[in-house]
Amino acid sequence: MDKYLEKIINDIEKTGRSSLQKEHFQHGRISVFDHSINVARTSLKLAGLLGIAVNKRELARGALLHDYFLYDWHEKDKSHCLHGFRHAGTALRNARQDFSLSKTEENIISRHMFPLTPLPPLCREAWIVCIADKYCAVKETAGNMYAVKFMSRKRRKVKNS
Ligand SMILES: [Fe+2]
Ligand SMILES: [Fe+2]
Repeated sequence: MDKYLEKIINDIEKTGRSSLQKEHFQHGRISVFDHSINVARTSLKLAGLLGIAVNKRELARGALLHDYFLYDWHEKDKSHCLHGFRHAGTALRNARQDFSLSKTEENIISRHMFPLTPLPPLCREAWIVCIADKYCAVKETAGNMYAVKFMSRKRRKVKNS
């Protein structure tokens, strides 16, 4: 992995509650932590590919914390209802407790669910993470569906042989 991103991940792991992000799944068998790393890596790549001038540190930190909601959203619980609409706000509250955030990092976290939530991102970094998040969600979900299909086909083959 990119040494630059690795260092930022290590800093976040030291200060925050990343263990909770590692415990909980986001899409399929991908943990929230791994999903956040995928989004950070994709965001940095996207900015580079498109030649968009960004603050790399804020882009990476915002991406790593965009889903810092710290609960298992698959669990049926009153406090998890409307997860899609509410978790960006929860992530921002949690991240503020554990880190000192810049305005850009706050905007990345609070606006990443646009257009499901109506307020759009206000800076380039937040737009990039908003797009990278959707791309990663589709990729992770499709990858998981492929893995399930592949494993069940393999199992069937073994059974029939
Ligand atoms: Fe999210
Ligand atoms: Fe996400």
